Amino acid sequence: MSSKIYYFSGTGNSLVVSKTLKGMLNENKEVIPLAIHRKKQNIDINEDVLIIVFPVYFANAPDIVKSFVDKLNFNSNTHIYAIATCNGVAGHSLFTIDKLLKKKGKKLSAGFIIDMPGNALTTPLDVEEERLRNLTNRVSEIAKYINNSENGSIEGKNNLKSYIDSVMLRLVGKNMQIATTKFFAESKCNGCGTCKKVCPVDNISIVYKKPKWGNECERCLACFHWCPKEAINIKKSFLTDRKKYHHPDVTVKEMFLDK
Ligand SMILES: Cc1cc2nc3c(=O)[nH]c(=O)nc-3n(C[C@H](O)[C@H](O)[C@H](O)COP(=O)(O)O)c2cc1C
Repeated sequence: MSSKIYYFSGTGNSLVVSKTLKGMLNENKEVIPLAIHRKKQNIDINEDVLIIVFPVYFANAPDIVKSFVDKLNFNSNTHIYAIATCNGVAGHSLFTIDKLLKKKGKKLSAGFIIDMPGNALTTPLDVEEERLRNLTNRVSEIAKYINNSENGSIEGKNNLKSYIDSVMLRLVGKNMQIATTKFFAESKCNGCGTCKKVCPVDNISIVYKKPKWGNECERCLACFHWCPKEAINIKKSFLTDRKKYHHPDVTVKEMFLDK
């Protein structure tokens, strides 16, 4: 069996899920950041199994993940699984992926939600610790499904309310609370360029030793959370005074993508 795990991740949760899963899958498996394909028109899938791992944004899948799925070209009878990591509200994110696949005559064999520490709204510390402790067991349940090529259900909500909630959340979150124009570097920024390196979509340039944000932002918050000086902030947002987070088992270098 050959499998590819494609992931998107800003603060490492989805990356850790992908790597943990890789360790549990039978033979021939690869973990790939899907952002490296963002400029491609077509992405060929020749494997027996495709797994897509991503964080939930605004009770839905991130735009970059939707666009990735849109570009997939299947050359064999691939089993497709998706895993959404989230802070308790996955909404219809997995159903969105299934719907996009159906346009291509494919569908999810199963869709799984894993609750993780939040990187936007904060998670109480005890809940955060419990979620991190439970991770290996949860991923091992999922690996069993995949290793047996089993079909299962798609977790989450797929109704009109969840759709409306997602549209509203996105409207407020994407365009108001986390608008690209609100990112800035505080005076403690020393121009080290970590923010540029962790940005999965290469949206940050360093101009006169300060970061400058372009228009490709996915709102993954990698720049905000990984800055070694904690100098990146977001003006007038619920995130302004937020404690920084990244998955404890991930190093900043693991977040750097070849660009
Ligand atoms: C812009 C943004 C929106 C988010 N929206 C949701 C949401 O609607 N529901 C939820 O449960 N978690 C939400 N989260 C939290 C993340 O989905 C969660 O922490 C995820 O595991 C982060 O994965 P990563 O570390 O791989 O980036 C959001 C995070 C961000 C950055």
